[in-house]
Amino acid sequence: MVEEKEAQYYSKDFQWEELREEVERDPSLRHHLAPFPSSSPHPSDVDAWRRFHRRHSTGRFFKERRYLLKEFPELVYCDDFTNLLEVGCGNGSTVLPILRAKQNILVYACDCSEEVLEKAKEILATANAVSLEQRFHPFLLDFSVGGFPNWLFCASCQKNSLAKPLNFPSDFKENESTTLNDLSFLREDRCCIGGVDFITLIFTMSAVPLQKMSFVADNCFSVLKPGGLLLFRDYGLYDMTMLRFLPEQRVGCNVYMRSDGTLSYFFSLDIVRDLFLGAGFIELELEYCCVRSVNRRNGKKMQRVWVHGKFQKPS
Ligand SMILES: C[S@@+](CC[C@H](N)C(=O)[O-])C[C@H]1O[C@@H](n2cnc3c(N)ncnc32)[C@H](O)[C@@H]1O
Repeated sequence: MVEEKEAQYYSKDFQWEELREEVERDPSLRHHLAPFPSSSPHPSDVDAWRRFHRRHSTGRFFKERRYLLKEFPELVYCDDFTNLLEVGCGNGSTVLPILRAKQNILVYACDCSEEVLEKAKEILATANAVSLEQRFHPFLLDFSVGGFPNWLFCASCQKNSLAKPLNFPSDFKENESTTLNDLSFLREDRCCIGGVDFITLIFTMSAVPLQKMSFVADNCFSVLKPGGLLLFRDYGLYDMTMLRFLPEQRVGCNVYMRSDGTLSYFFSLDIVRDLFLGAGFIELELEYCCVRSVNRRNGKKMQRVWVHGKFQKPS
């Protein structure tokens, strides 16, 4: 991941087509473009992520994503007591700047790794943000196999809100014997929090096998309030890190397995569009953006390609 302090230049008018032509003309990059022989599904790499977080338990990989508030200004100008769900929160890189910027935002955040959720709590507790405790609610979930918990938006409230009710089995175990998944914030007389106003999917969808992405997108749709926004940022097709993968790390079309077993998918705009429009969202923004930076250690220039998207649930 690019260290934020190193990032020099974000460009939205970046000519991705020029990069595509360059890549497609380069014989040394041909292995990235070859049709993939089999469409066999990749194994879910949730255990690989858990191992990753166990190995990096110092939280050294924590990079606060301050630029997100510039990219998604609605997070700054939203009403008080807005609910936000961060999907695949890791150690809180996305959540922290949001909590800092808005003293009255309530953040629900899930991840498949108990270790990283504990780490996120620790990082947030020492981060000098005001009254974090009441505003950060982490819960354990493998969102590639289970739906979001009913307490986010129960089926009956979904129906009453005129949203498309979805009936996915909820994988959330309310009796988990952990300090995570504490529901004491939910008032006794309430069945759920009534849905969320925002969902952030920041460098998370790329970790999910392609054939499970629409399940995740559908589930996101189901817990958003009508009119709510899904904010998306992830690796773009022909990103520098994609072009550096070795041929044997390519496990599907535009998907690679890192040496630690975690997956990384590189998105074209069409794939992102199909995914979220297929789930029922309206597209508000969708573009490639380019992040240019200089590696401070070796002075080398780096060019990263990310996809930036904003989708709305119809009201
Ligand atoms: C690249 S990190 C991004 C973290 C965070 N969104 C950020 O902005 O830094 C991807 C996160 O997704 C989590 N993850 C991957 N697959 C998951 C799954 N199926 N269910 C829950 N979490 C998952 C990983 O544990 C990891 O913390």
